[in-house]
Amino acid sequence: MTDRFDRAALIAAAQRAMAGAYAPYSGFQVGAALAFADGTVVTGANFENASYGLSLCAETVAAASASQAGHRAGLIAVAVVGGHHGVIDGVVAPCGRCRQVLHELAALGGTDPLIIAAGAHETVDMPLSALLPLAFGPANLQP
Ligand code: THU
Repeated sequence: MTDRFDRAALIAAAQRAMAGAYAPYSGFQVGAALAFADGTVVTGANFENASYGLSLCAETVAAASASQAGHRAGLIAVAVVGGHHGVIDGVVAPCGRCRQVLHELAALGGTDPLIIAAGAHETVDMPLSALLPLAFGPANLQP
């Protein structure tokens, strides 16, 4: 187990994932890359729906994919990139729903992952706990 991740490689993985976005309605492509303590990286891209509100964000797709593959502990970092038609400009941070989804995955391993929102000219790093303070999670449902 290593408790480190390759920051540049994680951002690059999110950028590659963005190319797999299905975003015919918004034209806004997003890619996310999840780093786990064992070195695993799982990616996702947004997957929109003709019933717009059912669209799935990149982070949610990545989190579900990680869970399905058995990666449920040790989430240490998440890189997110996005932009209109795949052109990265401003910083894209996880939406509120995705923060909650990421919190669920992180809570399974008791980690507080670093969220890396990488824009073309600036990058913002923030722990998930700062983006979602006082988060509701699995611990709340313990009897
Ligand atoms: N989107 C994401 O994939 N992640 C976010 O954190 C913010 C928004 C997607 C949803 C939708 O497909 C498009 O960006 C425009 O909102």
